[in-house]
Amino acid sequence: MGDRSVIVGNSDGIGLALTRALLERGWTVRGLSRSPSQVEHASYQHTIVDVREREFLDALERALEAGDTHLVIYCAGIGEPFHPSRLADDIATFETNLMGFVRTVERSLPHLLSRKSGTLVGLSSMIDVLRSKASPAYGASKAGMSRYAESIGLAIRDTGVKVVNVRLGFVNTKMAKADFKPWLLQPEEVADRILRRVLTASPPRRLNIPRRMAALTVLAQFFVGRL
Ligand SMILES: NC(=O)c1ccc[n+]([C@@H]2O[C@H](COP(=O)([O-])OP(=O)(O)OC[C@H]3O[C@@H](n4cnc5c(N)ncnc54)[C@H](OP(=O)(O)O)[C@@H]3O)[C@@H](O)[C@H]2O)c1
Repeated sequence: MGDRSVIVGNSDGIGLALTRALLERGWTVRGLSRSPSQVEHASYQHTIVDVREREFLDALERALEAGDTHLVIYCAGIGEPFHPSRLADDIATFETNLMGFVRTVERSLPHLLSRKSGTLVGLSSMIDVLRSKASPAYGASKAGMSRYAESIGLAIRDTGVKVVNVRLGFVNTKMAKADFKPWLLQPEEVADRILRRVLTASPPRRLNIPRRMAALTVLAQFFVGRL
């Protein structure tokens, strides 16, 4: 594993924690998000861009080509409560959470495959197996993201390139809006757990954090089907 990475969606939350954790480990990081970055570091460069805009593809390409990128992490995500008068929010959610990831795969996978090594990581959610009346677009976009990431990982398993689908429970960021947040984790702890599993020779295709929350969602899927 080398020391150059690109993180999409890192001005805040888990992406920001991952950026800081990689810099502490001596990596070079290029970040992309809509807001400026709080990070000032000799090994860090930031591009302001929206993953839903055409400019994103060029900005991502420049970030990938600026170095011999070994690690790409997609953290960009939004999630708003459902309301029938705000269905445009659902489109924004799919474009950010799912299509932004698909576009990131489209640009970064050929780059990693040409090197026959490297890892592509997507931050998904354990809601991917549940129906969600609170935020149907969020749950469905994460279901698509998880299935796509894990299937791509299977499809390229003999190439030397890895794809890791990180399925998260509750993490203490502005994204976590639920009233009840069992086993709430801090973003720094989550970043550390992700990197400890991803920066190995054989990263898992699916990473559940925390694992006991994954067990709870399996139970919820079968016994509380109306969640
Ligand atoms: N927190 C949780 O409990 C939890 C649970 C399960 C899964 N997740 C997933 O983990 C990922 C990170 O979430 P978080 O908790 O760290 O949330 P966060 O603190 O809200 O961070 C989200 C990041 O995504 C970026 N972003 C959003 N829309 C974007 C766009 N259109 N273009 C570019 N960047 C965009 C934001 O930056 P800008 O606003 O500057 O663009 C921000 O840096 C998300 O995919 C989320 O769904 C979180």
